[in-house]
Amino acid sequence: MTRTHHCNELRPQHAGKEVTLTGWVHSRRDLGGVLFIDLRDREGRTQTVFDPQDLPQAVFEAAAKLHSESVIEVHGAVRVRPPGTDNAKISTGHVEVLVKSLHILNHADVLPFPVDDPEIANKVNEELRLQYRYLDLRRPEMTRNLRLRSKVAIATRSYMDENGFLEVETPTLFKSTPEGAREFLVPNRREPGTFYALPQSPQQFKQILMVAGVERYFQLARCYRDEDLRADRQPEFTQVDIEMSFIDREDIYSLIEGLLKRVWKTALDRDIPTPFKRISFEEALNRYGIDKPDTRFGMELVDLTEDFRSSSFKVFSGAVAANGVVKALNAKGLAGATQGQLETMTEYAKSFGAKGLAFIKVENGEWKSPIVKFFSEAEKAALREKLAIEEGDLILFAADQWLNACEILGKIRLYCADVLKHQGKLTIDPSRFDFLWVVDFPLLSYDKEMNRWYSSHHPFTAPVADDIPFLKQDPKKVRGQHYDIVVNGVELGGGSIRIHQPEVQKTIFEEILAIPPDETKLRFGYMLEAFRFGAPPHGGIALGFDRMCAILCNTTSIRDVIAFPKTAKGVCLMTESPSAVTPRQLRDLHIDVKTAKKE
Ligand code: AMO
Ligand code: AMP
Repeated sequence: MTRTHHCNELRPQHAGKEVTLTGWVHSRRDLGGVLFIDLRDREGRTQTVFDPQDLPQAVFEAAAKLHSESVIEVHGAVRVRPPGTDNAKISTGHVEVLVKSLHILNHADVLPFPVDDPEIANKVNEELRLQYRYLDLRRPEMTRNLRLRSKVAIATRSYMDENGFLEVETPTLFKSTPEGAREFLVPNRREPGTFYALPQSPQQFKQILMVAGVERYFQLARCYRDEDLRADRQPEFTQVDIEMSFIDREDIYSLIEGLLKRVWKTALDRDIPTPFKRISFEEALNRYGIDKPDTRFGMELVDLTEDFRSSSFKVFSGAVAANGVVKALNAKGLAGATQGQLETMTEYAKSFGAKGLAFIKVENGEWKSPIVKFFSEAEKAALREKLAIEEGDLILFAADQWLNACEILGKIRLYCADVLKHQGKLTIDPSRFDFLWVVDFPLLSYDKEMNRWYSSHHPFTAPVADDIPFLKQDPKKVRGQHYDIVVNGVELGGGSIRIHQPEVQKTIFEEILAIPPDETKLRFGYMLEAFRFGAPPHGGIALGFDRMCAILCNTTSIRDVIAFPKTAKGVCLMTESPSAVTPRQLRDLHIDVKTAKKE
């Protein structure tokens, strides 16, 4: 190719220069017989001018027939645009190229949607964009996202390299270790009935790498999880996966703070202050009702358990008597909520297990609520003081077991914040980033239905040393050496200090998680064995790379920062995968497919 400049390069000082540009026909305008084509490449746009006076008739006619997105090469002279025709919106807006020759490199058919409209994401349904992803990616907004992602990956690699980490690739044909999300399985042709599994994360390999003496490992690792998809979850996604030996939690905090500082500087030229604040799991739940709090606004939860212990409102006192709590939040400015809106909110709370959602609306100096008549003066005074009640407030209550009450109000808090944002009563500075370490998670959670304990994070997380004596007597008391990094209410990553003594790990598997010894051996035998040959103390973390890029690109969907993402149903619309395979392929894999009969 003979291209001399890219499409975001020419400036008035290039006037008079002969240049060759290549790219896509972004837009075309015919003004009084003169044709203006905006030529676009990855870098930007340049206006080219086709004047019939200066061009052979055939060339002019060919240009006039070009469809948008055809690929062309033009040769011509740069000139400063005539006064009044500048385009201040683009950096090449003061010049244009007077075309002398045109080379059509490829024609484009009529497009399924226009590429030159910045509002397209709001106008065209996402499925069409995903089906024609190569067109969607030509849009400058998407090109910007890909470019930023690439920069962030490179900044991450240099930072890790500077800090002495080795990038090691781990297998993606792994072993099935059912725990956590559902796995994708890959049948093994050589041994009927056996399967590889795609890794949910390189967790076990990175720990083995510590046993192998690597000391500092990282990888931009592809992970696979067959779970229900949402805006922030894809079946395959990328982690910045990290593991280190001979460290404690503080080492991870400062490493990651340094990494995020570097990334934010590189991507957004922003200096983010470190160290980040820390909050315990318990405090996060008590104040925000969630383990990944968005601290950019208040509306904190307030505890009223003691104030309503002997209330004549039985919904509250009954919950307290059953060892539960009474909590409330003050949604300032929402007193105007209609009956319908309150019912919607109640139904929403109920979908998370709430038994109801008691409320008080403060309007015209009155407390409007079906329950206030049950409250004593002392109870009302406690509410007034603890919730700083004023005209225009909407108070919402949850009376339940501690975790339920917190989580229900946590959801309601986010819901109210959305409504307030929508009404213009809550504004959050889009350039604000509230980073937070959430620490001291419970090591174990109880599954009532299965009647057993399971790991809150994963079974390799070490208990806090002081809590080890409670492991067998009172497992719920044991805190894990686990940490999550949260920004603006998004869980960016999580990790832990690991168990490195084989006997502690075996106790967790067999005595606490109640995995039968033969199953432990089958699933984790190689790890327990490796740990017998000199496992250093170690720990690590994984950041969701797609989530990090989405935050940096100021988008809520990680699909916007993944070149070829899947839909919520796990489908790639462009290649139409997953797809059926031939009977022969199935035979080779020893697979017999039974299709479920439709009812
Ligand atoms: P965890 O399961 O918390 O930890 O995952 C770490 C981070 O990965 C991101 N993430 C996802 N991103 C997109 N789509 C998904 N489906 C998805 N699932 C997770 C999140 C999350 O915080 N091995 C441990 C880490 C460790 O202990 O070192 C692990 O995978 O941002
Ligand atoms: P009830 O006495 O069940 O009609 O409830 C009276 C009010 O309290 C209604 O507004 C319910 O939505 C609400 N309510 C019921 N149970 C709870 C609960 N556990 N926590 C908070 N509010 C509740």
